[in-house]
Amino acid sequence: MASNRNLLVLPGDGIGPEVMNEVRKIIAWMGKKRAVGFDIKEDLVGGAALDKHGVPLSDDAMKTALEADAVLFGSVGGPKWDTADFSKKPERGLLRLRKEMDLFANLRPAKVFDALVDASSLKPEIVKGLDIMIIRELTSGVYFGEPRGRHINAKGEVEAFDTQRYTAPEIRRVCAVAFELARKRKNKVLSAEKANVMYTGVLWREEATKLHKEKYSDVKLEHMYADALAMQLLRAPKEFDVIVTDNLFGDILSDEASMLTGSLGLLPSASLGAPDATGRRKALYEPIHGSAPDIAGKGLANPIAQTLSYAMMLRYSFDLGKDADMVELAVENVLKAGYRTGDLLVGNTDGTKKVGTQEMGDAIVKELDRLV
Ligand code: IPM
Ligand code: MN
Repeated sequence: MASNRNLLVLPGDGIGPEVMNEVRKIIAWMGKKRAVGFDIKEDLVGGAALDKHGVPLSDDAMKTALEADAVLFGSVGGPKWDTADFSKKPERGLLRLRKEMDLFANLRPAKVFDALVDASSLKPEIVKGLDIMIIRELTSGVYFGEPRGRHINAKGEVEAFDTQRYTAPEIRRVCAVAFELARKRKNKVLSAEKANVMYTGVLWREEATKLHKEKYSDVKLEHMYADALAMQLLRAPKEFDVIVTDNLFGDILSDEASMLTGSLGLLPSASLGAPDATGRRKALYEPIHGSAPDIAGKGLANPIAQTLSYAMMLRYSFDLGKDADMVELAVENVLKAGYRTGDLLVGNTDGTKKVGTQEMGDAIVKELDRLV
């Protein structure tokens, strides 16, 4: 039966396929128990696509992604492709998706589960109850700025260069997403850049300030240099609500924020485009962890970040907030019950049970069964 929900699944490389398998169990459960069905297509991305098609994303897969209501993405990359030509690196597959789908707003929530307060490397009182949202600009900045490349310079030296570049509209549209989201949270936005050393930073601060004055003066706006924010995130992370920043700073700061929660293996993300005439946004959901080649294929990976990415998809692409809540609650309860993949076994591990990828996935499905 057609579901009117077209989903493209791109498991990718490394632990991507393993953690995606656990989400498939939840998708099947949702179809059976909650009548939430999808028309699912699947394709290759990253090294897997490179091996088969000679490119990290085929034009066919790109087309399917553009037509889908949502893309559920695993992870890409690994040592096997370290020597691949730069333009064909597995990561280019993901960057192409982001760029051609125009997914300019990357939402990266960092939330600390009560059950995992001890897994954080920071003191419990610093992180307990933490709930911040990093919004990373995702389709511009130094990731895509031209010119970029390498050459032999006038002195005969090898020289490489990238360009940090932002237009005012690019800054405004991502800041608007931050202000809108803040209104549904604690109504606070922190905008981070390096206005002390970069032209793009100066423009970023100007545009954030202007937009705030024009449309969002009810939201509290503050500015900080990105390096100072890196420090404050470790000193007093709970002072923040929504953080908006550029592509590269957002990449780095969101990895940092994720460790406040105890593990990279927990955090999902949503990458959203602009709404079209019908209000529909192109969207891609992915865990913020990478392909973790060191543990790939061993059944050790934590499927929670991928599971929570699926929950974000239910919420943001399909307006299925109740079902998303249910998946999130199931994850929380499984953690409360003591289930831990290896990445979470730090700090106080009393009363915990070490599990692998599949056992964690099964525990989440079992908990969903109990909740329904
Ligand atoms: C991320 C990743 C990607 C990035 C890589 C895989 C291209 O680190 O999503 O944070 O640098 O954006
Ligand atoms: Mn990253």
